[in-house]
Amino acid sequence: MTPTPLRSIASKLPAGMLYGGDYNPEQWPEAVWSEDVRLMREAGVNLVSVAIFSWAKLEPRPGDYDFGWLDRVIDLLWTEKISVCLATATASPPAWLSRAHPESLPVDVNGTRLSPGSRQHYCPNSRAYRAGGRRLIGELARRYAAHPAVALWHVNNEIGCHTHECFCEVCAADFRTWLRARYDTLEELNESWGTAFWSQAYGEWAEILPPRKMPTFRNPGQVLDYARFMSDALCDLLAGEVAAIRLVAPEAKVTTNGMVFHRPADYHRWYREVDIAAWDSYPDPAGGIDEVQAAAFTHDLFRGLRGGQPFMLMEQATTQVNWRATNALKPPGQMRAISFAAVARGADAVMFFQWRAARAGAEKFHSAMVPHFGTEGSRVFREVCALGAELKKLTGVCGARVPARVALLVSWENRWALEVESKPMAFDYAAMIRSYYGALWDLNVAVDVVHPDAPLEAYAVVVAPALYQLTRGQAESLRAFAQRGGALVMSYFSGVVDEREHIWLGGSPGLLQDVLGLAVEEWQPLPAGESNALVVAGRTEPVACKIFCELLHLRGAEALATYAHGFFAGRAAITTHRFGAGEAIYVATEPDRTWLTTLMSDVLERHGVKAPVVAAPGVEAVVRVGEGMEFLFLINHRAELAMVELGEWSGRDLVSDQACTGTLSLEPYGVRVISRARDREVSAVPRLPQASAV
Ligand code: GAL
Repeated sequence: MTPTPLRSIASKLPAGMLYGGDYNPEQWPEAVWSEDVRLMREAGVNLVSVAIFSWAKLEPRPGDYDFGWLDRVIDLLWTEKISVCLATATASPPAWLSRAHPESLPVDVNGTRLSPGSRQHYCPNSRAYRAGGRRLIGELARRYAAHPAVALWHVNNEIGCHTHECFCEVCAADFRTWLRARYDTLEELNESWGTAFWSQAYGEWAEILPPRKMPTFRNPGQVLDYARFMSDALCDLLAGEVAAIRLVAPEAKVTTNGMVFHRPADYHRWYREVDIAAWDSYPDPAGGIDEVQAAAFTHDLFRGLRGGQPFMLMEQATTQVNWRATNALKPPGQMRAISFAAVARGADAVMFFQWRAARAGAEKFHSAMVPHFGTEGSRVFREVCALGAELKKLTGVCGARVPARVALLVSWENRWALEVESKPMAFDYAAMIRSYYGALWDLNVAVDVVHPDAPLEAYAVVVAPALYQLTRGQAESLRAFAQRGGALVMSYFSGVVDEREHIWLGGSPGLLQDVLGLAVEEWQPLPAGESNALVVAGRTEPVACKIFCELLHLRGAEALATYAHGFFAGRAAITTHRFGAGEAIYVATEPDRTWLTTLMSDVLERHGVKAPVVAAPGVEAVVRVGEGMEFLFLINHRAELAMVELGEWSGRDLVSDQACTGTLSLEPYGVRVISRARDREVSAVPRLPQASAV
C-alpha cells in the first residue's frame, strides 16, 4: 500500500499537514489584511481558500473585471509563504447576472422561481450562469494559475447544498435529452417506468416532464431518473468548471468540497472529476458519540472516493455554527479531538470555515479562527494556534493509508431508490447504515465505505445494510465474495428491486436468496415507539428490536434469533447460512444497537478481524500506515478520563513526544498518535477510480 501525500498529487501544496480555512478578505478593509497574514503565521496556517463568494467583487459589471485586490491579497499571503486554494468564485452569481437572466434562477418543485439575495441562486443547467462562470474562470486561470502561491483550485462551493434540484423549462428539456440517451426508445422508457399503470404511458418524448408537484404519488421510475439526472447535471457543472480551468492551465490540480453523505449528489461519480476529495464537517458538538460517528462515516466515505488516498477536511467550525436551532459551542479540547479524528481516518488537511469571523451578513454569528473578541486572551484562538503547532508534528503521517478488512456497501442510487415515496414505510437510509457503522466504530474496526460495485477481494467481512436496489452484477460479486470464504452481513429490505425499481419476484433478497438461504414473504413496519423482541440462542434476556420486522422462509439458513411477539413469534429474525467457504448473515429487523455490536463482534472474530487496542467506550482507535512506519491514533471523544490497553502496541506519541506502552490514561478529549516502525506488509490496495473525460 503506497503512501500518497497530497503533495505527490498537487506538487505546489505546502509540505506537511495542511492547515487553514476560508479567507474572505473582501469583507475587510485592506488594513486588516496584514494583521490577518501575521496572525496566520502565528497560528501555523499554510493554506487558505480565497474568493469563494467573490464573483460580484471580481466582476462588478458584466465583463468588467477587477483583479487588483485579489492580486494584492495573494501576493501578501505569499510573502509569508501561505499557499492559496483559489476558488472559481462561482458559488454565488452577482445581482446583475440574475437581473439580466431571470431564467438562470432555480424553480422549485411547486413551480416557484427563487429569488437572488442569498447564495446558490442558480439553475444548475442555466446556460447564462454556466457561461458567465466559465468566462470568469478563464480570466482567473490566465491570471493566477502560474502564481507560486496558487497550489490548488477550489471548484465552486458545496455544489448542490441549497439548490440541488430545479424544475424549470430548461431542466425539463435537458431531462428529455438525458432520457433519450438512457433509453433508446420511448417503449423502453415506458417499460422501465412501469407506465402501464394509472394511464401514465407516454406517446411522445415531448409529453415527459420533470416530476413536479402532482396530485398524489409520482411515478417512482420518473422520480429515480430525475434524481440521477439532477446529480449528473450538478456533476456536469463541476466538470465544466474543471474543464474551464484546465483549458488555460492543463496542469492545474483541483478539488471541490462535498458535504456529509449529501443525498442529491452521487459523490462516487462526482469525485472522479477532481484530483483530491474534500468535505465540510459540522458535527453538532452537543450531539455526543452519534455525531462523532456520523463524521467518522463520512471521513471513511470520502477516503474511499479517491481510492484510499488522503482527503481534505475543507471546512469545520472552531466552535459554534449559526444554522442550528441551538448552536452549541465546542468546550476546550473538543475541536482538537474532532480534528485529530479526521486526520486519523485519512485527512491530510484540517481547514475551517472561516479565518476571521464576519461582522455583517447572515454568518456573523458563525465561529472562526479569529473571533470577534480578538486574539488577545481568546480561548478559541489559543486552541487554533495549539492545533496548528501540533499538526506540524504529524508531517510523517502525510500520505499514510488506512488499511481496512471490512467494507460497508453504500450507494446513492440505492439511497434514491429506497427513499422514493410509496414504500412500506419512510426509510432513512443514512440511519440504517449508521447502525452498522456505529457498531463497527464502537468495536474500533477500520472500515472502507465503498460502492456495491467495488472489488471486494481485499475484505474479510462485507456489510450491506438495506441494499434495497440490487443489480445482477452486485449479486454476482457478493455471491463470489461469500463463496471465497468472506462473511456477508445483510440487513432487512435488501435485494428487493432492480435498477429500474422493478421488484425481484419470489421474495427478497431476490438474486441472493441462495446465498442467504432464505426468502422474505412479508414485512411489518413498526411505528416509532413500538418494538418487538428477539429471543437469542444462549441468552436469557430478550433483545429489543424495532422499525421493521421481516417474516422469513428459511431455505438452508439457521436461526440465530427468533421473534418473541406477534403472530410470527418463534419465527427466525437473525440467521446465518454457510455458503461456499464463507457465510451469509441476515438481520431481518433493527436490533438494539448494543446487541448488534455483539453480533458484529462475533462475526469479526470468526473472520479474524481485530481492533488494534482495547479502549474504553468513546475512544476512537485508528491505524494509518505509511512508508516503513505506522501510526495509532487514539482520540477520547468524551469529557472524562478513558483507559486504553495498548497490548502489543508501543511507540512514541508524536504529539507529546512521550513513550507509550501498556495501559494508557487519556484525558478528556485527549489525543495520541503513537508511531512505530512497521514490520508487516499491508495487502489491501483499493483501486483509484478513473477520471471521466470532461
Ligand atoms: C458551509 C459553506 C460555508 C459556510 C459554512 C457555515 O456549508 O460552504 O460557506 O456557509 O457552511 O457552516
